[in-house]
Amino acid sequence: MMGRRKSFSFKPPLGAHFMGTHGSAIPAAMAALVIAALLLASPCAKSAPRERITIDDDWRFQKGDPAENAVSLLYDGRAEVKETRDVGPADAQAKAVANVTAPAQTVIKAWILPAGNAFIKDPARRFVRPQGNWGGDVAYVQQDFDDRAWQQVNLPHDWAIAGPFVTTGGGGMGRLPTAGVGWYRKKLSFSAADAGRSIFLDVDGAMSYAAVWLNGQLVGGWPYGYSSWRVDLTPHVVFGGENQLAIRLDNPPDSSRWYPGGGIYRHVWLIKTDPMHVGQWGTQVTTRDVSASSATIDVAVTIDNGLEGSATVRIASQIFALDAAGRKTGDAIASVDPVETPVAARASATVKGSVIIANPRLWGPPPHQRPNRYVAVTTVLQKGNVVDRYETPFGIRTLRFDPNEGFFINGEHILLNGVCDHHDLGALGAAVNYRALQRQLALLREMGCNAIRTSHNPPAPELLQLADEMGFLVMDEAFDVWARQKTPLDYHLLFPDWHEQDLRAFVRRDRNHPSVILWSIGNEVGEQYTVEEGAAVAKQLCDIVHEEDHTRPAICAMNYAKPDMPMPAVLDVISLNYQGEGIRDTPEFAGTDRIHTPPLYDAFREKFPRKVILSSETASAFSSRGVYLFPVTKGISEPVREGRGGDSKICQVSAYELHAVDYGASADKVFGSLKRHPFVAGEFVWTGWDYLGEPTPYDSSRSSYSGIIDLAGFKKDRFYLYQAHWRPDLPMAHILPHWTWPERVGQVTPVHVFTSGDEGELFLNGRSLGRKKKGPYEYRLRWDEVVYEPGTLKVVTYKNGREWATDERKTAGLPAKLTLQPDRAEICADGRDLSFVTVMVTDKGGCTVPRADNRIHFDLDGPGEIVATDNGDPTSLESFHAHDRKAFNGLCLVIVRGVAGKSGNISIVARAEGLLSGTAAVQTTPDPPGEPP
Ligand code: GAL
Repeated sequence: MMGRRKSFSFKPPLGAHFMGTHGSAIPAAMAALVIAALLLASPCAKSAPRERITIDDDWRFQKGDPAENAVSLLYDGRAEVKETRDVGPADAQAKAVANVTAPAQTVIKAWILPAGNAFIKDPARRFVRPQGNWGGDVAYVQQDFDDRAWQQVNLPHDWAIAGPFVTTGGGGMGRLPTAGVGWYRKKLSFSAADAGRSIFLDVDGAMSYAAVWLNGQLVGGWPYGYSSWRVDLTPHVVFGGENQLAIRLDNPPDSSRWYPGGGIYRHVWLIKTDPMHVGQWGTQVTTRDVSASSATIDVAVTIDNGLEGSATVRIASQIFALDAAGRKTGDAIASVDPVETPVAARASATVKGSVIIANPRLWGPPPHQRPNRYVAVTTVLQKGNVVDRYETPFGIRTLRFDPNEGFFINGEHILLNGVCDHHDLGALGAAVNYRALQRQLALLREMGCNAIRTSHNPPAPELLQLADEMGFLVMDEAFDVWARQKTPLDYHLLFPDWHEQDLRAFVRRDRNHPSVILWSIGNEVGEQYTVEEGAAVAKQLCDIVHEEDHTRPAICAMNYAKPDMPMPAVLDVISLNYQGEGIRDTPEFAGTDRIHTPPLYDAFREKFPRKVILSSETASAFSSRGVYLFPVTKGISEPVREGRGGDSKICQVSAYELHAVDYGASADKVFGSLKRHPFVAGEFVWTGWDYLGEPTPYDSSRSSYSGIIDLAGFKKDRFYLYQAHWRPDLPMAHILPHWTWPERVGQVTPVHVFTSGDEGELFLNGRSLGRKKKGPYEYRLRWDEVVYEPGTLKVVTYKNGREWATDERKTAGLPAKLTLQPDRAEICADGRDLSFVTVMVTDKGGCTVPRADNRIHFDLDGPGEIVATDNGDPTSLESFHAHDRKAFNGLCLVIVRGVAGKSGNISIVARAEGLLSGTAAVQTTPDPPGEPP
């Protein structure tokens, strides 16, 4: 394609050049010749200069070590965790490091640490691999070990999600069997023609403490389960033959405050390059001087030389526009002049260049902007041959953080209407799936959400890809803990050795994504309490971030540090968790030894008038979809207590959406507080979706209560509360509760309405119950004295005196039938794409029966399979892999996938005793279905 192109649509401006750190500038006139040489040379190259090969399919998996080797493969000494406990209140003060006695025998750590050397700045701190081949005699790493009895799996794989759920101990980590050792083996073939190339294994994420052997040789690994990492297989590859890869993971218990998953839960790639190649995440594309007519693009490229001798290379980059699907459109629109640089033997060199493009199409969030993207195609030429070609997608946008007005992108003020989300995908567990993430984001977008905080760890690369494509703004977060622990075996054990490598790897991986607007170095870290010492750690981490990317601010989410403490002073942006609204600031908490503060936005602003303030965590409001508990509080924000929003017999929280964690606040309260403080750049609600683990306030459950959307992807009432506020121009109204209360006839049953209108009139069986208007700082209409009678509730809402939107609730009859509704009736037959099928238990007339809990059985016919089922009930301990599950408040979910390479019609049948069965049809096709929603 490149070879056919004759002319450039944009000429580099005179003097534009690439300047190598060791290189010489090449005048613009020569540039055209060099590029022509590049283009001519490319068709003659032996094979594609760089191959990125998916190796997700067909692995063998086994839990546990071979008995005789178990202990010697430990990464490091570990404190013995005597009792399995829950994590307690999430805002409990993080503790100092536990005393861990290193085991007497050698541990594998010394062989793993060198894998991170590329991310350690100071050469003196880099690790030298010890002599020997640790673990080389372990049965599972041997080439001739017979693994045919092991389970056959495709990646991404989460070994814990099938369950069974554990009923003893705390629910903090999701009650699923994440802990323990797991082995993965796969055979790899390399042709003789590959000899001389560099071969890397790229792992997007493996949970956790990975160690990798190729043909029985330990090649490295990476302990932090959320980092993406690479090991160099080259020295141990047998070219022209079969190779045996073996990966051992070791997931500690009590290592997390949420569900971490277990296994190789993200994608894995083989990378084949010339020994002279663009290094791992070796490009950095930044933009500046952006206007409607032009933008300057700066491209830095780091070349790694795997050869024993030094060599000279020429590097050039061309810029192409991408369409919405990420395909290049047309010819290159600009070229960065090539530059020549020597690269010493087994060393790296970085070159920098710039080019101005005309009429840039900016990347920005909908609805007023579009997420336009470009790609820089970097070509490396050695002795006239193209030895590497590397693509870096990027976007052009300006970010401005203004202490008085908040956040601007491309000059448009955007209030950050964000959510925090954990990484799990509900019933699919931690195993990353593009379509499941896309569904999560699409539902959030429907609600008016425009920003995501990747709490509290580096996300799957697909999340950022989707955020780029869909135009979400991202607060990209690295850590939940530093050197002070929140749980006995969490990241604090790794922090001293690995924080630099993990943080640099994180920024280098993610810095070219236009969606990323903020780097978060941590969440509610224990170092807030160690005052100067903690601030020094924060400063060091901020410095690392700035060295890797100078274009975005670094923050740390603070739930304890106050304006007069040293930590906020070292951060670029003041990022508060709950402190803006105040924490435990009511008489109920008088005398508490937990964190308690008055609302602190104004105090932080006074102390830091030049810093932007935002809320990295708000709300932590709780509710269970479709559960309404009485009496209903007259207030707007209360903690959950027995009989006040909570019921410990059923372990559910009322969906009137008025209750929050003790240190949190309802959505209504946060909206009011943000309105009163217009300088605050916005919020990230805890959380957008429910997640596995941390089931506060009912520890016996499996999943959280804080999601605006439940674990199965069904909207709680809160969804409409946010939608009403975040999409004020969308005419909408939403009545709660449901209206099927045979046991409440004659009893007071409050009715609340969430609407983007400002006024509404409620009717019960045609009788008006009055017209109400929202007062200042009010975000719902409430009729608290309604006396229940069966029939129809209807609301007619108004905005500025004009009729705006209506909603209706009808009393349902008895469960009579099942109705199935796939979110997509056509999916790709690639073995990955999914259809999420909602099952509704309805009465004869098709009205959903709001408290139906019928047991439903699923069958599937055709070229597909049932991947998982769920119902969004946090208390449900039924396996996600069961094909039979109870409905929760009228709804159930079945997730269906096509078989790779087999297109056809899938039919899903749902049956329940005494009800009419329901069916759904999903077609699988060879091609991906149209545009993302
Ligand atoms: C916060 C914490 C979150 C989560 C939340 C639950 O303090 O940062 O990770 O635990 O509480 O309410």
